[in-house]
Amino acid sequence: MVKICCIGAGYVGGPTMAMIAYKCPDIQVVVVDISVPRINAWNSDRLPIFEPGLDEVVKSCRNTNLFFSSDVESHIADSDIIFVSVNTPTKTRGLGAGKAADLTYWESAARMIADVAKSDKIVVEKSTVPVKTAEAIEKILNHNSRDGVNFQILSNPEFLAEGTAIDDLADPDRVLIGGRQTPEGQKAVAALKGVYAKWVPEDRIITTNLWSAELSKLAANAILAQRISSINAMSALCEATGANVSEVAYAVGKDTRIGPKFLSASVGFGGSCFQKDILNLVYICECNGLTEVANYWRQVVQINDYQKLRFVNRVVSSMFNTVSGKKILVLGFAFKKDTGDTRETPAIDVCLGLLGDKAKLSIYDPQVSEDQIRRDLTTSKFDWDHPQHLVPSSPTAKSKEMVTVTWDAYEAAKGAHGICIMTEWDEFKSLDYQRIYDGMEKPAFVFDGRNAVNPDELRKIGFIVYSIGKPL
Ligand code: NAD
Ligand code: UGA
Repeated sequence: MVKICCIGAGYVGGPTMAMIAYKCPDIQVVVVDISVPRINAWNSDRLPIFEPGLDEVVKSCRNTNLFFSSDVESHIADSDIIFVSVNTPTKTRGLGAGKAADLTYWESAARMIADVAKSDKIVVEKSTVPVKTAEAIEKILNHNSRDGVNFQILSNPEFLAEGTAIDDLADPDRVLIGGRQTPEGQKAVAALKGVYAKWVPEDRIITTNLWSAELSKLAANAILAQRISSINAMSALCEATGANVSEVAYAVGKDTRIGPKFLSASVGFGGSCFQKDILNLVYICECNGLTEVANYWRQVVQINDYQKLRFVNRVVSSMFNTVSGKKILVLGFAFKKDTGDTRETPAIDVCLGLLGDKAKLSIYDPQVSEDQIRRDLTTSKFDWDHPQHLVPSSPTAKSKEMVTVTWDAYEAAKGAHGICIMTEWDEFKSLDYQRIYDGMEKPAFVFDGRNAVNPDELRKIGFIVYSIGKPL
């Protein structure tokens, strides 16, 4: 029986390994993590992440051929294929701070593999890493390994999106595997391809060299984010001219060369990866002397910051140039629907911007806990993490009484002056807005950062509605 170990039981490691175990009953999969609470949660009835369909997949093979353990070393030693799916955040200090990927977790995982491996291993980069990372990992492994133990490094970046992870894993557009162009490298590529081929059609499994695979991941995220910044830039022009961004996106997306996906204008993209991966790409370009290329990609993040700032300014200016002391209901805090993940969610920047103008916030999200929201709004972030001017300078703006977190949207709306929709949760479409309106101060405003609700219906009730990129 082939044994797979995955280091990192996060948003990628957990679901990806659960899918491999589910589709390959003849493979034993163990997911290990240094975080004991996280492993305990994977072994419990309440998984550490919310992802539609994940519970069913995990429960169908957990403790059969899928295991979660904090005994990192022994499972690494036992396995034939080791996936590394640890976090690779943006560096916060030192060389490249604010842009470069922090590979500390990756390096410590690699050192641990070298330390405990007594037999040959295939080591798979699952985390998103800078191009050429495999070379560094090879050096760490080969200089620290026991005599006679050989390692083959593969790059197998993950393309799942949160909220649709299970569908993305079960039916991926493609699986990408990069390896050394040597007989041993190609043998390792074939072994990993054999795992995916159990359920992914062969023509969707792309094999390539290591550097192309590593760079393809950064390129895919950069180009996806670029589409959002492109349509968001258009949304500003739509608002200035009376065009409707949804109609523009529809007309543009009908061109089969462009396609309809990823053209929804929004308050801005969030999530743990787009910004981090683009900044990483910018840094790699700069390191290679490609200043113009770096500036081109940096602009994608700058437009995203501009969009969040524009949204906050619109709220404040529409509400008679001040939100001081006004109650604002924030609907949604996660960075997109169907996830409880708040990493880099635009809701953080918008809330901080409103708090900076002394608004009182009442926040509701069906999947995000009060603790998480309070942590997100009080954790000191770095300058490069927020669009300028959005971080409140006054500590009182962050104080507890300025923010209420609630589990009932109707209660939260009572006495509110405005509503900001930050996440496109389906349930927000079917709220009883008449009931909400009746309990609000007048004039009652809706600022829809996701174009989630029908502005005409809300206007009929009496709301003043601002939608992204749509005529007032
Ligand atoms: P995460 O923070 O949810 O999970 C990473 C886990 O690795 C954590 O639980 C951490 O405790 C563990 N870890 C760190 N160092 C360790 C070590 N030395 N030994 C054992 N465990 C260790 O991160 P994530 O969202 O799963 O992302 C992981 C990687 O995948 C990142 O590089 C990210 O860019 C990439 N990625 C993420 C997504 C996504 O949707 N989140 C999608 C595609 C790719
Ligand atoms: C994204 C990519 O889609 C995945 O392919 C990739 O694997 C992953 O990043 C990663 O590397 O982490 P994810 O961030 O989970 O996945 O979710 P997306 O659906 O891409 O949404 C990202 C952000 O863009 C969200 O805030 C979403 O609301 C926003 N978005 C998306 C828009 O504003 N408009 C759109 O048209 C699409």
